[in-house]
Amino acid sequence: MAHVGVVFGGRSVEHQVSIRSARTVAQGLREAGHSVTPLGIASDGCWIDADASAAVIDSGAKEIPPLEVPVAPTVRHLLASGVEVVFPILHGTWGEDGTFQGLCEMLDLPYVGCGVTTSAIAMDKVLAKRQLAASGVPVVDFETTSRRDFEADPKAFLARCERLPLPLFVKPSVGGSSVGIRKVSDLVDMAEAVRFALRFDEVVLVERGVKGRELECAVLGYRDVQASVVGEIVPGNEFYDYADKYLQDTAGLIAPAELPAAVSDRLRRTAVQAFTAIGGAGFARVDFLLEGEDGLFVNELNTLPGFTSISMYPLLWKLTGLPLPRLVDRLVQIALERHAERRRLDEGIKEFLATLA
Ligand SMILES: Nc1ncnc2c1ncn2[C@@H]1O[C@H](COP(=O)(O)OP(=O)(O)O)[C@@H](O)[C@H]1O
Ligand SMILES: [Mg+2]
Repeated sequence: MAHVGVVFGGRSVEHQVSIRSARTVAQGLREAGHSVTPLGIASDGCWIDADASAAVIDSGAKEIPPLEVPVAPTVRHLLASGVEVVFPILHGTWGEDGTFQGLCEMLDLPYVGCGVTTSAIAMDKVLAKRQLAASGVPVVDFETTSRRDFEADPKAFLARCERLPLPLFVKPSVGGSSVGIRKVSDLVDMAEAVRFALRFDEVVLVERGVKGRELECAVLGYRDVQASVVGEIVPGNEFYDYADKYLQDTAGLIAPAELPAAVSDRLRRTAVQAFTAIGGAGFARVDFLLEGEDGLFVNELNTLPGFTSISMYPLLWKLTGLPLPRLVDRLVQIALERHAERRRLDEGIKEFLATLA
């Protein structure tokens, strides 16, 4: 059994969700027999020590307030913890996007979930869509622009979008929690929606709006990737926006989703294909849009999915026959396997160089 650091909180808008996810993950790991050290990150990026982190997990604390000191020296709390493997449950920017994974690589610490490149690609909607499309995974038709190009000639971009049927979804390429996303039903609103999205990222994409269902599938594995049963989100608002995700209690979550077997089989195969296409390892929740019975599109992959007691990812695995302790234990085993493999690759490089000497 391993000494696992559960890293939670962080700088993203999903700070509070992350704390709730960490409670579930810590409990599952303990039930699986691991020893757990929670490691919290305040909303300004500063790390807090293991005792303070445990107090956040054990109490009903909703957030870790900013410490307002330089961040770098506070990383000592991770270094001093003595953990053998890290389970980051940091949703969104500064955690799900490859940044935390890079820190672990530099520290030679095994970590749960996707690596640096995969995490970064999955967080960037334009990059992810290009990579998925190149691998034959169906994605929704889109156009993209950068701040520089849009400011130089907004009309040219708006003209390019005219081929896409209304309504349109305008999104910052890097982001999450639906922040910065607008549904546009009239082209006169497009320029403002693009400028709004540009407040959150340098690159914006405009997608054709899919009139259909939102389905989710949980994937798990490394060499051998498995897909769970399928779940469905029924937005309470016009789409699954920030308020619907976090402020209201109007969205419905149905699991397993009612679907013809052929559709759910196809969806599960496509989820594994999408995960593999971006080099996934460990886990991800793959989100789909389904138009009719044939129009299946991967909307996005979430490489550090929500893990609260009511989140879709652990629920879908439970329904597939993998309860929480076995699920989180498997994730830790994959993290250790991948770390050992990375070491072997390094050895291989050294041996190769030795043959040249
Ligand atoms: N092309 C689309 N067609 C229909 N609905 C969409 C489309 N793109 C996004 N949405 C709606 O907006 C929500 C958030 O978009 P998404 O791309 O998942 O961004 P985020 O990363 O912020 O979750 C989706 O859950 C869905 O309700
Ligand atoms: Mg989403």
